Parts: sequence; structure tokens; C-alpha cells
Amino acid sequence: MNAARIVAAFDEFCNAFPQVRACYATKCNPDKDVLRVLRDAGSGFEVASVAEVRTLASIGVRPADLLFSNPVRARRQTREAALAGVYRFAVDSVEELFRVADEAPGSCVYVRLATGGGDSVVPSEGKFGVDAGTARELLRLARDLSLVPYGVTFHMGSQTLEPAALEGPLADVATLLAGLQRDGIRLEMVDIGGGFPAVYDEPVPSLALFGDVVSKRVAELPYPVEVYAEPGRCLVAEAGTFRCTVIGVARRPNGWFAHTDLGVFNGMMEVLETGGNLRYPVRDSRADERRRAFQVTGPTCDSQDTFARDVPLSEGLREGDVLSVGSTGAYTAAYASQFNGFPLPRVVVV
Ligand SMILES: Cc1ncc(COP(=O)(O)O)c(C=O)c1O
Repeated sequence: MNAARIVAAFDEFCNAFPQVRACYATKCNPDKDVLRVLRDAGSGFEVASVAEVRTLASIGVRPADLLFSNPVRARRQTREAALAGVYRFAVDSVEELFRVADEAPGSCVYVRLATGGGDSVVPSEGKFGVDAGTARELLRLARDLSLVPYGVTFHMGSQTLEPAALEGPLADVATLLAGLQRDGIRLEMVDIGGGFPAVYDEPVPSLALFGDVVSKRVAELPYPVEVYAEPGRCLVAEAGTFRCTVIGVARRPNGWFAHTDLGVFNGMMEVLETGGNLRYPVRDSRADERRRAFQVTGPTCDSQDTFARDVPLSEGLREGDVLSVGSTGAYTAAYASQFNGFPLPRVVVV
């Protein structure tokens, strides 16, 4: 992980979203040194588990500054987070509101709105969120349960390539704020979630284009609010480069395969998650002029382990050569398993 690239991405985000407080989505890459770089750059943090709260507390991030945006939690998660000092929790159901009222009485809640998620490269399965009408009911119930109706959030879906994807959710936010105003409830914050794109093997729209939509629509809300965002991928993906070693090259009836000590199961899981739509740039250390198309595959005995297809690599590629896989700072090491007995990748921040 290249620290300077992380800081540059954070600065770009802040310039693109001048009125937005960026809270890095810890899940994306929870390596402590990565978190320290973001902390020092001035980032806030979003968490989805009490383990993430602890990790951040161990590097001096105050739990009271965290957003806990996972809308359904085991009771123990809410209780321990609240005891540590977290006071802002996402919800999207009546059941969770009652649990928060039990385990973290008096805390602030923000409701997760559903989004289409159709424009994102990493598919969103529509697991979370409610419509604006239901969100209004939940926030009224929050008040009745002596919780603080604090805000509203949504998440577009990861690696969203279309800035207009923010329009629908922000229109829902406007409807909700106006409705709640009639109920005598004024929200403090709007959290626009994450999903902003990073560059893999193709250009993506600039963050500034997403920022323009947010500035325009937030200015049209019925009253001023604090705006938060939960960027993950766009802050750390491009800072990451996997270095892996070729363990063997094999010619098969369906082409040439380069087997490496990195595969889908120990780092490249998003290749499976996106059906191969996320394509990572791969280079090799040999740099032969003559190229040959390789399927780049992992060390396991599982045929789902191939993470790059038809990549032009050096024709003379052989055992011991080093491959660099770019844009691998997000959802890689964090997703890695030791499936088939192969080790986890080691994260080094330079
Ligand atoms: C609630 C929430 N916020 C933020 C993020 C970060 O998304 P991204 O890494 O696409 O910016 C996620 C990712 O899954 C999420 O679920």
C-alpha cells in the first residue's frame, strides 16, 4: 500500500466534496497502518462491527467519532459499541430500533434508504434499506422510543460509474426531510454512503462529477444539514499493488496459464463477486517484447481461482517471475482466506 497515494486520494475526495465529512469505510481495508494514514490525513471512519471499533480505538480514534452503519447488529455488538462510546447507529427496521432502544438507550439513529444499485460494477443485492415513507415512520418511532432521530443514509453500490446514481436517493432524502418537518422532527445529518469509483483497467468519471450532484441537491434540501460520506474503495484501491510470484506456467488445450501464489481465495475475491467485470492491471517483471495471452490463476486446486483472463504477459514467463497486480488496495486482503492451506497476503504500507 502506497501511503502517498492514499493521502492523495483522500485530498481529491475532500476537494470534490468540499462540504462533506469523509468517514472511511473501515471494512474496505482495515490494515492498521492504512487506518493510521487515513487518520493522519484527517479522515473520519465508518464501522460495521465492534471489532472494527476496537481496532480504531487501538490507534487512538475516538469511538464517539465513528458512524456504525451496519443496519442490523447482534445485541452484543450494539451494547459493546455503545459502552465504548459509539452513539450513532444505522437502522432500517422496527425490530432494530427496539434493540437499539434496549442496548444503547438515548442514542442517535439514522435510517438507511434503499437504492437501485443498478449502476454499480460490484453488484448490490438490495439487502438493505427502506423507502422514504417507511424511513419517516421509523424516525417517528425512534422519537417515541426516546432515541434521537438523527439522520438518513444510503449506499449506491460499490464502484458506481454514473454520478446521476445519486439523484434518486437524494430526492428521497429531500422527501423524507420535508415529511419529518411536518412531524416536528428535524434531522441533523445526511450520510451519502460510499460507492465512488476507483481506476482499475479503464478510466472512470471524476469524483468531482459526483461532488457536483451532491452540492447541488444538498443545497435544495428543506434546511441545512451536516453531510457525511463513507468512501472506501476510491480512497485505497489505487494505492495497492499485489506482488506475487509465478509458481508455474502450463500450456493447456485452452491456452497458457500462469499459476501464482495469489489467487481469488487469498485476495482476489472481487473477481468472483463481479463475474470478472472488475479487471485489475497485471504486469510481469520479465518485460519481454514478445507477448503471449495468459490466464492468471491462483495456487489452489479450485478452478474458480483464475483472476485475470487473456492478459498479455512476457512470452518467456516462467517460475520465479514476479507479477504486479495493480489497484488492489480495496476488498482484497480484507476478503482473503487460507482456503486450501495457502497463506494470507501480508500488507505493507510504504
Ligand atoms: C454502508 C456502507 N458504506 C460504505 C461502503 C463503502 O463502499 P465503497 O468501498 O464502494 O466506497 C460500503 C461497502 O460495502 C457500505 O456497505
